[in-house]
Amino acid sequence: MTKVGIVIGSTRPGRNGAAVARWVHDLAVKRGDADYELVDLEDYALPHLDEPLPAAAGQYEHAHTRRWSQAVAALDAFVFVTPEYNRSTSGALKTAIDFLYAEWANKAAGFVGYGVDGGARAIEHLRQILATAGVAGVAPQVTLSIRDDFENFSDFRPAARHEDSVRLMLDQLVSWAEALRTVRV
Ligand SMILES: Cc1cc2nc3c(=O)[nH]c(=O)nc-3n(C[C@H](O)[C@H](O)[C@H](O)COP(=O)(O)O)c2cc1C
Repeated sequence: MTKVGIVIGSTRPGRNGAAVARWVHDLAVKRGDADYELVDLEDYALPHLDEPLPAAAGQYEHAHTRRWSQAVAALDAFVFVTPEYNRSTSGALKTAIDFLYAEWANKAAGFVGYGVDGGARAIEHLRQILATAGVAGVAPQVTLSIRDDFENFSDFRPAARHEDSVRLMLDQLVSWAEALRTVRV
């Protein structure tokens, strides 16, 4: 079955991202069309990029890189749950992407952003970064407002309409993930 990783893109103490990712995961597992798992960057404790060779060489010196490589290689597709920091994605997520190369290639991605303005600029930036790594981003996306979808900027209470956006995003993500498997063999 297609394996989809729902990546928590924030490692900040008190982050809103974990609640958003859990919500996406809860909606996703009810579909029964793929294996959905949470991928928490915090669990991988990646430092600033510290590999001597570029990721495209695929030769990793450090155990933390090899562990991260195995996790990403085992997945067919991703939902990136990204905060917006200074109009971009998080440094933690950018670094996690930079650590690897072939593990991302010819896979599909969907996006869930959140921020003052719905995280749309973070998603746009992330799309550019991932395109370089050969990741195909689906067009439907989910944008959550810190003002409207969180109480007191921290208690996640998403408007019901966002469930439709998650559904549309996952519909295309799973079909693209299945199609791209033929490119990877
Ligand atoms: C360093 C920093 C920069 C931010 N910059 C933006 C921004 O440019 N645009 C925006 O919409 N929200 C911005 N925010 C608000 C965050 O999107 C919001 O706090 C969100 O909850 C952060 O995700 P997290 O709680 O999972 O870390 C910023 C927050 C931080 C901490």
